[in-house]
Amino acid sequence: MNRLILVCVALATLSSALIRFQCSQLVVQRLDPLVNPGMTPSTHVHQIVGGNSFNATMDPKKDMPKESTCTTCSFSEDFSNYWTAVLYFRARNGTFKRVPQSSQITGAKAGITVYYMQDALYDTAQKSKVKAFQPGFRMFVGDVNARTRDEVTRFRQLTYTCMDNAGTRAPETLAFPTRPCPAGIMVNARFPTCWDGVNLDSPDHMAHMAYPANGTFESGGPCPATHPVRTAQVLFEVVWDTRQFNNKADWPTDGTQPFVWSFGDATGYANHADYVFGWKGDALQKILDTPCVVNCAGAKTQSTAAMNACTQKAVVNENVDGWLKELPGGHEVQYGRKGD
Ligand SMILES: *[C@@H]1O[C@H](CO)[C@@H](O)[C@H](O)[C@H]1NC(C)=O
Ligand SMILES: *[C@@H]1O[C@H](CO)[C@@H](O)[C@H](O)[C@H]1NC(C)=O
Ligand SMILES: *[C@@H]1O[C@H](CO)[C@@H](O)[C@H](O)[C@H]1NC(C)=O
Repeated sequence: MNRLILVCVALATLSSALIRFQCSQLVVQRLDPLVNPGMTPSTHVHQIVGGNSFNATMDPKKDMPKESTCTTCSFSEDFSNYWTAVLYFRARNGTFKRVPQSSQITGAKAGITVYYMQDALYDTAQKSKVKAFQPGFRMFVGDVNARTRDEVTRFRQLTYTCMDNAGTRAPETLAFPTRPCPAGIMVNARFPTCWDGVNLDSPDHMAHMAYPANGTFESGGPCPATHPVRTAQVLFEVVWDTRQFNNKADWPTDGTQPFVWSFGDATGYANHADYVFGWKGDALQKILDTPCVVNCAGAKTQSTAAMNACTQKAVVNENVDGWLKELPGGHEVQYGRKGD
């Protein structure tokens, strides 16, 4: 099914907000202020978008919009940071090459397409009221150690789409696609949507958030009593441009697929994503409260050129591109465990 068509249909009937916007790349490096604060380098390579106050240490008490001088997001009041691991191709000779990303917006440097949704993407009414995240709020979704299907299903919505063309949105799989994908691999990361209403973060960066008590976010399921506050669903879409690696003659001779996350996972089950809220003032709540879709009148935007101009010099001095003998950080490639 084609999401773009659905979004156009939504224009006619929408009563509230469905926000979708592009953030171009800020930097690619081994830093992780959420899971490995202060560690330079952190364990594995990430691709990061958003405000340029991103750093190895990010004090939640600091005012991100004030600390940043620019953002890579098209919504110019969004100084949040959004990041994921990066994908590498593993050649038959055992060397690795970083897979480039492609942008869903013409002219924008590849990065992340971000959504904030009040209801399921295909629900054209978007009528649920949701609470915007607060300054200092952070969250994580996924498990870097997951190597089986069971270990990823508990996160419900961390998936891959093997794209035949730019509009392909189904099917979504929990493991890496097993065939070459002519238009690339889309990674979809949806965060949980029920907040405990108290904690801006938690030791595992997940416990302050939960999934609906029954049903799903998409079916309008109620939040559990422990996490009663319904928030927007944050969705990242990242398109990995695998085209230069689609020749089956370059794929492993044992029939497995050749892509591996920057921390060594070759199953795809360890798909994960990080979010550090950094919208200016109540800009996010205002947009969520304004009936609009994609191009929201209440939202200030900047040009693609301005998004692209916002970049950061990597503070970790290492080569993450070219043909590498090992993954940065020295991670071994890990395949699925027995029984899966
Ligand atoms: C990141 O932190 C380092 C060390 O505190 C500091 O020197 C550097 O200026 C910071 N970079 C940015 C972009 O804030
Ligand atoms: C390993 O394979 C890649 C892809 O075929 C090739 O570009 C690279 O030069 C090879 N490296 C070595 C050391 O043979
Ligand atoms: C879901 O939970 C709500 C509130 O507790 C309840 O009213 C509803 O019947 C439940 N639905 C199902 C399908 O269990």
